[in-house]
Amino acid sequence: MNDVIEIPKMLVIYCTFKCDLSCAHCYTESGPDVEDATVKPEHVKELVDELAGHGLTEVVLEGGEPTLFPDLMEQILEICESHDIKVLVRTNGSWVQDPSRLDPIRRHKNARLELTISQFLGNDDRVIAITDALGDLSERTSIVAYDISGSGMPLGELEKVTGKFQVATAQTYRFGRAVKLPVHQAPRSLIDLPVCRVLGATMTLFPDSTVWACDGFMVRQLQKKRAYSTPLYLGTLGTDSFEDCMDRLRSNLILKLIRTIGHFGVAELAGITIEGHGPKFRRSINLPIMGQHGHKQPASGFEHICEACASIMSSETELQRLQGDPASRARAVDEVERAWELRQRLFTLATA
Ligand SMILES: C[S@@+](CC[C@H](N)C(=O)[O-])C[C@H]1O[C@@H](n2cnc3c(N)ncnc32)[C@H](O)[C@@H]1O
Ligand code: SF4
Repeated sequence: MNDVIEIPKMLVIYCTFKCDLSCAHCYTESGPDVEDATVKPEHVKELVDELAGHGLTEVVLEGGEPTLFPDLMEQILEICESHDIKVLVRTNGSWVQDPSRLDPIRRHKNARLELTISQFLGNDDRVIAITDALGDLSERTSIVAYDISGSGMPLGELEKVTGKFQVATAQTYRFGRAVKLPVHQAPRSLIDLPVCRVLGATMTLFPDSTVWACDGFMVRQLQKKRAYSTPLYLGTLGTDSFEDCMDRLRSNLILKLIRTIGHFGVAELAGITIEGHGPKFRRSINLPIMGQHGHKQPASGFEHICEACASIMSSETELQRLQGDPASRARAVDEVERAWELRQRLFTLATA
């Protein structure tokens, strides 16, 4: 039962929410007018040093636009390199005006780029200028485009522009500024699979030094609202130690429930209604989370579950009742144990 929560293998760092663009679909609501705060290198070092000893495999630099702060990137890349940890930097390509902003990435071979081009769709010249400016970094760059048309992007067309780069497309989630998009541009993402492989297996650090148990779209909203009573909040570095954050993670009944009986199991147990849900999505054992049993690396991607998770995490009263009432709590603990045992038996059978 203690194994239900993994020590995070992926650390996501929101370096800043400053951005030189302000995309209409941005879930972090970043832009030129937000505060200048950046993540503190000493906090990055604290987390990376601690997690590296427990098998941290990847750090993701998010934002805002991380390349606006090359000195900060340099420091973070160095910390990660000292532990031989790979770093993925998500970027919007605005450095095309000043490619020296990418110098830290050029210097650190443990870093690669994920370039988003959704915001330049239809502006082929800009996309070509950006991919040309990558130079030798193109070998360490992948391209992603979010489907803000909602109708599926013509990948073939995009790749005609991006040339040798393959373009991965992904769906736009209705968080942050994207909630204002018409539904055909950002359809509700409920829900293909009642599975989340991220919660409780990744850790996120924000510029305000807070640490959270998810790197998903919804956690930014919670951080913005300073929703410290949610099960996803683990602590604030400077005040709390890494061990305090880990204690909150390990003893977290709601996260254990989500990782065993799934979001819909938790909703049912706590009496939470997930808006837009029919009976099709009932409780299920969260089998695809193999975690401790071989699939050490949490798969990236959220399996379309974040919107359901947001409903659960904002149902404070129900979650408090579930954890505070002795009978409900005992039942929840029992559910986790039974589901975990069953999952282990199934896993043994599947891998025999
Ligand atoms: C928040 S941005 C930060 C990094 C950088 N500024 C960029 O745009 O690549 C990280 C990634 O999230 C994507 N993104 C932003 N809003 C989204 C949403 N509502 N749903 C899905 N992806 C989104 C961006 O397109 C980008 O690929
Ligand atoms: S999606 Fe990226 S580029 Fe666009 S506003 Fe958000 S952080 Fe900036």
